[in-house]
Amino acid sequence: MVNAADPDRPIRWGFLGAGRIAGKFAGDLRTARGSELVAVAARDAERARAFAETHGARRSYGSYAELLADDEVDVVYIATTHGQHYEQALQTFEAGKPALIEKSFTLNARQTAEVIDAARSRGLFCMEGMWMRTNGLIRTALQLANEGRIGELRSVTVDNGLLFPYDPAHRLYDLHLGGGALLDLGVYAVTFAWIFLGEPDRVRATGALAPTGADQTMAMQWEYDDDRFAHVSCTTMAATPQRGIVVGTKGSLTLDRPFYRPERLIVEQAEGRTVTSEEVLQPIVGNGFGPEIAEVERCLREGLTESPLIPLDDTLAIMRLMDSARAEVGVRYAADT
Ligand SMILES: NC(=O)c1ccc[n+]([C@@H]2O[C@H](COP(=O)([O-])OP(=O)(O)OC[C@H]3O[C@@H](n4cnc5c(N)ncnc54)[C@H](OP(=O)(O)O)[C@@H]3O)[C@@H](O)[C@H]2O)c1
Repeated sequence: MVNAADPDRPIRWGFLGAGRIAGKFAGDLRTARGSELVAVAARDAERARAFAETHGARRSYGSYAELLADDEVDVVYIATTHGQHYEQALQTFEAGKPALIEKSFTLNARQTAEVIDAARSRGLFCMEGMWMRTNGLIRTALQLANEGRIGELRSVTVDNGLLFPYDPAHRLYDLHLGGGALLDLGVYAVTFAWIFLGEPDRVRATGALAPTGADQTMAMQWEYDDDRFAHVSCTTMAATPQRGIVVGTKGSLTLDRPFYRPERLIVEQAEGRTVTSEEVLQPIVGNGFGPEIAEVERCLREGLTESPLIPLDDTLAIMRLMDSARAEVGVRYAADT
């Protein structure tokens, strides 16, 4: 467990899953001053061993249960496909360990509520891996919006699209693994609109399904009683501009590309018909996970069980919104029954 009294001892991470994102995250963990990767578990012991060797982990396991029983692991990073997060999160909390859970947190709001209850009832730290919310430029944009730099907020337009040619075995198209554009790409767009405008009063969703039943496209119109609105879309059928635009009565904020990992923020301010434009640049360091890792470190050292930057109540409310959008478009996981 983390010893807050010993700030010199790095926080020791254990990974469930040795896949693509686990590798990128491990790369940034290596350069994080307050953390180290001590163990990795994969379904296949040889792959876990190879991952440990590549990324400098001391131990590797061929089962997740062995890693959860490792006394040296302070915090678990759940980096498997989203269909696996629910059970693995419950097992992690059962083992008495805190967790950072990749997005999408689970498959639906029922599972999310259970996972949050399991963490809260044991007083264990739990955070959704919504790293976008820890990004420096996203935080700057939020601060400018809250300070009224672009006037009263009126709308958000955000799209997240990448081309993934149809392959029924790929995790994006396989419903058992939590396939679908919304849970993978759309969750960033939904969270982006949410952090600027808050929960909408009404959501209308439309979309197109792949032959497996996973959504390849989801387009939403959010409406608010005070006439604010958001256009939120995602697709696996095309590489879109991946831009997030926040509009207020006196200007706009544009984050690209992609908006969830931006290196550039454009602040436009309108005075009558005269528009001035300012660019704020902030290069991404490494793979961009540094601020997220730092937030987990901070929470664990300060004894926080939730991050104020990524509140669990938001994770749950956003999952509810995505449940209703999926229901409207006809995307069903076995876990929904
Ligand atoms: N934060 C980000 O920027 C970001 C980017 C991409 C993805 N993600 C999220 O990270 C998670 C993993 O994505 P990824 O791209 O890394 O996926 P991936 O490489 O395809 O798979 C990750 C791991 O999931 C497990 N897995 C894969 N297929 C499985 C199956 N059929 N049954 C059971 N387990 C299976 C495997 O664990 P083992 O190693 O144990 O076999 C695999 O290593 C997803 O939830 C995704 O949304 C986040």
